[in-house]
Amino acid sequence: MSDPRPIGLFDSGVGGLTVSRQVFRLMPGESTVYFGDNAHVPYGPRSPEELIGFAGSILTFLVSCGVKYVIFACNTNSSISLPVVRELYAVPMIGLIEPGVREAVRVSTGGRIGVIATEATIKSGAYQRALKELNPELAVFSQAAPRLVPLVEAGRAGTREALEAVAGYVRPLKKAGIDTLILGCTHYPFLETEFREALGPEVKLVDPAEATTMAARDEMLRLGLLNNPGGPARHRYFVSGDPRAFKETARLFLGEELPEVRQVKLD
Ligand code: DGL
Repeated sequence: MSDPRPIGLFDSGVGGLTVSRQVFRLMPGESTVYFGDNAHVPYGPRSPEELIGFAGSILTFLVSCGVKYVIFACNTNSSISLPVVRELYAVPMIGLIEPGVREAVRVSTGGRIGVIATEATIKSGAYQRALKELNPELAVFSQAAPRLVPLVEAGRAGTREALEAVAGYVRPLKKAGIDTLILGCTHYPFLETEFREALGPEVKLVDPAEATTMAARDEMLRLGLLNNPGGPARHRYFVSGDPRAFKETARLFLGEELPEVRQVKLD
């Protein structure tokens, strides 16, 4: 059986596009609806109440677009909103935390794992808890990095300023002797070059997007939701703020022009 309905993805801005690109690569037959809540970016400094409210409005919008499955393309919402809203919608959902943690534990050589993420994600303790649940022996080190999302949204990845910011945030993690670092925010893979340069080749970088997309694919297969044989896939983009800024930053990082990006006002 084949289900041509789209997969929904959402984030505060362009970060979730690092998850979309894994969906395009691993599930090329699937259509998507992407929502970038760029009127409210950054999510990092916001309270759990605000984040849960945004997630609810976005999920209601995605459901109105007929999505069959939702990937939380945002670690902050995966940490804070997903456990609360999962029960409120009939559509199945997945977040980035558990797949990211499983991948980090799989690649870690010495069990010294760092997590870098937004203030809200770190404060929620979601990654720290999930890692310890999987293996209580792990040494876990976490670091909030509030300057990075605004830098990415402003299209300033690849600058000296970005490298200095990343280097400053990873210094304590490096000192702690981590062997693996989870990029616990979907904006950070756009700064991969900076992370590599600041950490050196011996530290493994884990972007949870790939493991999450594979887990989503497995679950969709189980639920009979895949679009087999699939295609032609259609990808639609919506934002709550400025569509031009979103398109421009996306073009800069992805090296390609997105199709039409439409602004929608959510309740
Ligand atoms: N990209 C999101 C995340 O993975 C949100 C970042 C933000 O807006 O602060 O957490």
